[in-house]
Amino acid sequence: MAITWNDSWNTKITVIDQQHRKLVNLVNDLGEAMRVGKSKEVVNDVLTVLVDYTKTHFRAEEALMRQHGYSELAEHQKIHEEFVNKVSEFKLKVESGNTVVSIAIYNFLSDWLVNHIKGEDQKYIPILQGKA
Ligand code: FEO
Repeated sequence: MAITWNDSWNTKITVIDQQHRKLVNLVNDLGEAMRVGKSKEVVNDVLTVLVDYTKTHFRAEEALMRQHGYSELAEHQKIHEEFVNKVSEFKLKVESGNTVVSIAIYNFLSDWLVNHIKGEDQKYIPILQGKA
């Protein structure tokens, strides 16, 4: 249960790539905490760090898109917002201690983040590359 970074996911925008790699590492930390059967509290703590850092990354990415006049900012922002809302709902379920739900959340988080990084986030490369 771990994501291996693939260089084809790089945007070649240094700050973004650093943040994306950190996100992948945090998802892997979450997977590891679940795999070794860490307590509900530890899993919750790791999930909280991941969610907080995801929000930090989204804010930074949106600021860059805004700064450089990315035409699909509003749409991208909406995708971020929907993800944060969904994860917040999930987080409440994890706090209830349901392990099956926790694994479903891990799968959702890891699939969503990888697909977003190699999909939606690749679209702004022509606008931001060489500027950040
Ligand atoms: Fe890198 Fe749109 O999140």
